[in-house]
Amino acid sequence: MATLRGGVSPEILQQIRDGVDFTEVVSRYVTLSKKGQNFLGLCPFHAEKTPSFSVNPTRQMFYCFGCGLGGDVFNFLMRQEGLGFLEAVKELARQAGVTLPHWGGSGRGDAAAELRKKLEELHSLAHSWFQKNLHGSPLGKSARDYLIERGIHSESLSEFGLGYALPSWDGLTRYLLKNGAQPDELGKSGLVVARDSSDRGSSRRDGYYDRFRGRVMVPIGNLRGQVIAFGGRALDDEAPKYLNSPETLLFSKGRSLFGFERAREAVSRLSTLILVEGYFDVIALHQAGMKHVAGTLGTALTKDQVNLVRRFTTTVVLIFDGDTAGVGASLRALDVFVNSGLSVKVVTLPPGEDPDSFVRAQGTDAFLRLQEKANTLLDFAVEQCLKRTVNAAVEDRARSVDDILRILMKASHPIEREEYTRQVAERLGVRQQLLVQRYPSLTAQNPSHSRRRETKHSEGLGAKEKKETRQERDLVSLLLQGELGADHILALRAEDFTVPAYRRLVEMSLRHVGENGRVVLSELFVEAMVDEECSRMAAELTVSTPHYDDCQDYIRGCLEALKRKNLSSALDDLIGRLRAAEREHCLEEVDRLNSQIDSLRRQKAGFAISSFTLR
Ligand code: UTP
Ligand code: MN
Repeated sequence: MATLRGGVSPEILQQIRDGVDFTEVVSRYVTLSKKGQNFLGLCPFHAEKTPSFSVNPTRQMFYCFGCGLGGDVFNFLMRQEGLGFLEAVKELARQAGVTLPHWGGSGRGDAAAELRKKLEELHSLAHSWFQKNLHGSPLGKSARDYLIERGIHSESLSEFGLGYALPSWDGLTRYLLKNGAQPDELGKSGLVVARDSSDRGSSRRDGYYDRFRGRVMVPIGNLRGQVIAFGGRALDDEAPKYLNSPETLLFSKGRSLFGFERAREAVSRLSTLILVEGYFDVIALHQAGMKHVAGTLGTALTKDQVNLVRRFTTTVVLIFDGDTAGVGASLRALDVFVNSGLSVKVVTLPPGEDPDSFVRAQGTDAFLRLQEKANTLLDFAVEQCLKRTVNAAVEDRARSVDDILRILMKASHPIEREEYTRQVAERLGVRQQLLVQRYPSLTAQNPSHSRRRETKHSEGLGAKEKKETRQERDLVSLLLQGELGADHILALRAEDFTVPAYRRLVEMSLRHVGENGRVVLSELFVEAMVDEECSRMAAELTVSTPHYDDCQDYIRGCLEALKRKNLSSALDDLIGRLRAAEREHCLEEVDRLNSQIDSLRRQKAGFAISSFTLR
């Protein structure tokens, strides 16, 4: 009878749902604000500027009107953290304090989830091993001295969980193996390097050796605060200065921001994120009391990172070291931020300084003062480009910012684009018209235009489809919001619905009618969640809050319209069959169909009259 979802009973899932605060879980990842019955925020699953991600706190469902993703707390966590269903259940059960019944091997399809969990364990083991080396081992003294020398306080050491990798070839490898790691998992963790067969002759043991040796270890966390990678700083001028974890199942450099999980709360609160380049820049600024700081780890910022950031803030301050700020860096930054809706400022430090050295020499106030003088990113980029053409003619100066114009043309909003153009013209000291004239020659080289038109087209089709089934949709929506009374439920027939997922939702609802003749929504939702399409639709319809002058009247109207539509199409069908029977001279069949058609016509006429008198 009970429908199992991923092998877990509905009762258990409901206990977990009841035990966590859905809105609170979501707001660990998304800044939400109250909007009517729902909460609204920027969707964590696609890039958007105006919030279309809705959370319904009573039904504990989310839905994004932009990308169409939706579901319950399990769907949310799976999607957000890349977990398998059982993993999400386990994690949320833990948070809810629900004890799960023991279930047998999870076998099917969850191999990646299992590996991920294993890799998380290995990172956690490695993390504590590195920390133990730093604090408890005589060999850790050189690293301790190094960190003291760099002015890192002991509170910062523990806040950031810094550690030390011993200068041996297989210290960590042996430690992990001893603690139950499988050799192939070791390789996939990135903590350990598989020995190349050409190394065979060496004195080291076959198999694996430690990636990090004799380095200060900086853990990199995910949003949940779990360690997913490390950066290792050499203690002297050994190259490379930093050795980082490779890309793994857990870690992707272009998607992480160092320290963001610690900065997140302050970033949300201050609506500002300070982005720096280095590990120790983040640590030093946090230590100096600025908590809204995260790091890009020395690589160019990616769109993924920008999408992560914009869920929590409206303003980003980029701190460029004096020597890394250049045309290239500013154009790259402009490119990832255009269309992000973020206001971006740039602070350049004096040559030879980085945030770490600056804040230690000049203090927190001086650092904060730099921000007051900060330029916008656009201004900064223009300035960098103009440096190339200081004394050139106007035409050449305009050409020097073609790269910028090309990026600005990607701004999807025409007003925004015009405003940018105006600013650039002002900076150049030329008429705006001169820049606008350059646009056609720039677009000719820009291939992204035809693609955009295609997506518009398909969106249009979807809208038309929706109009035709609006009444079905509204009925299911009102049903899920508990607006349908017992008499409505009696009149509800699944076969009147033409959209398969709506039909399934109605079928399910009719299976969960309680003693008062109304649908028991909690039971319905548990069942709906098993069906991927239904769960998405249920999520969508639960957070949509349509307004009707007279809800009851509207429901009745919809029910009647569906019946009428259904009668019409049944009639059409019979008439088609009648024509065929006539062509083939099946007289018996013709008679039978004629009488069926008559009765249907009478039904339809009577129905029309009765519905007329009802109003
Ligand atoms: P920097 O070279 O600016 O170093 O690299 P830093 O952060 O000031 O380092 P310290 O103060 O000398 O310790 C900025 C960032 O680029 C990445 C690291 O994330 C570093 O923090 N990086 C740098 C590497 O990944 N590998 C390297 O060899 C160098
Ligand atoms: Mn530095």
